Amino acid sequence: MNIVMNTQRYAQMIDGKATAQKVLEEIKIEVVGLKAAGIEPCLAVVLVGDDPASHVYVRNKVEKALFVGIRSLEYRMSAETAQEVLLQKIDELNADAAVHGILVQLPLPDHIDETAVLQRINPMKDVDGFHSENVGGLSQGRDVLTPCTPTGCIRLLKDTLGNDLSGLHAVVVGRSNIVGKPMAALLLKESCTVTIVHSRTQNIQEICKTADILVAAVGKPKMIDASYLKPDAVVIDVGINRIQENGKNRLVGDVDYEDALTVALAITPVPGGVGPMTIAYLMKNTLEAARMQAKQI
Ligand code: GUN
Repeated sequence: MNIVMNTQRYAQMIDGKATAQKVLEEIKIEVVGLKAAGIEPCLAVVLVGDDPASHVYVRNKVEKALFVGIRSLEYRMSAETAQEVLLQKIDELNADAAVHGILVQLPLPDHIDETAVLQRINPMKDVDGFHSENVGGLSQGRDVLTPCTPTGCIRLLKDTLGNDLSGLHAVVVGRSNIVGKPMAALLLKESCTVTIVHSRTQNIQEICKTADILVAAVGKPKMIDASYLKPDAVVIDVGINRIQENGKNRLVGDVDYEDALTVALAITPVPGGVGPMTIAYLMKNTLEAARMQAKQI
């Protein structure tokens, strides 16, 4: 009798949806404790304009806040809102002791200076971790509020590889302020050896092939395939790209998932990987912000 061995091996799927649910359950318990101490964590979300994707994200954030018991306030402003009016709203939320977290959904309309807006948020309430005080603090390795998506990615990596990531070579593809740069800073804080590659990097493929951890955050559908991966690499796909495939609208990552599965040790799917973790860590940051502010009083 001939036995045909199937030597094809497949990576483990890193289930971000399940992990995010676990994180939310943990937060829910902590919120109960905080409320018992007389603190009701509260997140204010500000949305300017009518970008349909932003509306979906904000709805999701409000829904998850409700789930964990965090109070949420939603401020919708028209696309024509003057920058000064938005800054006034931020001042008002900064001054309100009952508000612990402030999130201004990006992107903002073109006539508004994004930096001016993000810098106006009190760093203690900056649950996005985008204020220069928090960016600098992270770079110095201080305990500050850190951006939600990369912080969620670290949790997925630790759940997969264990808490000690030290000495691993992490390659981050992309250098955005929202993901690439803070991701690199967080990996460095975990004592990884960190390389950032970007659109001007030569030999991206060869560099990626040396990665124990590969984080893709470039916004290029399926750019990373098996030929970019070292066997048993752990792959975190932050990309969310809407593409047309066989006449259908599809959501795909920056990694060719099916192809990468044959080489990687573990990989996040899109959707259901990093996405749900971002919102879970926004809730976590709101909780931390409430704790920090309670200590200050
Ligand atoms: N738009 C896309 N991602 C983000 C994010 O992480 N925070 C905010 N505020 N807006 C976004």
